[in-house]
Amino acid sequence: MKIEGITKGFNDRKKGFQPVVGTTDVDIHEGEFITIIGPSGCGKSTILKMIAGLESADEGTIRLAGRPIDAPSRELGIVFQQHVLLPWMSARQNVIFALETDPRTKRSKQELASLADEYLDLVNLSHAADRRPHQLSGGMQQRVGIARAFALEPQVMLLDEPLGALDALTRHELQLQLLDLCEKQKRTFIMVTHDVDEALLLSDRILVMGAGPSARIVHDISVPFSRPREVENLDQDPAYHELRHFLLNSLTGH
Ligand SMILES: Nc1ncnc2c1ncn2[C@@H]1O[C@H](COP(=O)(O)OP(=O)(O)OP(=O)(O)O)[C@@H](O)[C@H]1O
Ligand SMILES: [Mg+2]
Repeated sequence: MKIEGITKGFNDRKKGFQPVVGTTDVDIHEGEFITIIGPSGCGKSTILKMIAGLESADEGTIRLAGRPIDAPSRELGIVFQQHVLLPWMSARQNVIFALETDPRTKRSKQELASLADEYLDLVNLSHAADRRPHQLSGGMQQRVGIARAFALEPQVMLLDEPLGALDALTRHELQLQLLDLCEKQKRTFIMVTHDVDEALLLSDRILVMGAGPSARIVHDISVPFSRPREVENLDQDPAYHELRHFLLNSLTGH
């Protein structure tokens, strides 16, 4: 993915045009796990929405495999902070429903169900496939959302604080599952998070945004830890703590 010279602002009824994202260029390679971190309101979600084709950039272009992104597409899977599951359908039916909207393949009911089960199994939810969203915990609902996005097999997965609404323990558990998932299913990930440890655990590169207006990427950091990653090994690595310190400082403006 090539992001070249994009900018974005919004019109405010009182204040007029408000620039949000300043000129931004990024190259993202296939198979990379990228996280974007930065102060609240700097424009992280706005950038992700432009990549998803949900918002258009004021200037510049975003290309995926050479083609400009100007509308949402199957190649771009999205997971938001809050799950958006259909409440009257079971976990399995929610995944099947998304698969049924995919015009690329005609699959039998049987094939759809087994594909849905395969992806629910990847997020350890086989036992809960028949439950409806209100019968699932917040973390389980979020996992259904992740399974559904994966089942569509997009080229690029976009995640906007996918674990943001969870308690610390569940969040950590899901971070480990996501780590496992992205090592099993090599794919390009672009994730927004405000959790420095999450960024360091999961990503190959961390893009740190500065404060707005006209926020830009102020640091583009390669995360040097080898994979598969283990939390215990990272914790014993002085480089981990150094990077962590650097990121926390850059987020608090030091
Ligand atoms: N559709 C819109 N219309 C007007 N202003 C918008 C719109 N979307 C975003 N903004 C403004 O753009 C700025 C950046 O918003 P954005 O949601 O991208 O921030 P963020 O970095 O994701 O913040 P957070 O960490 O709190 O999620 C904010 O000032 C927000 O109010
Ligand atoms: Mg946001």
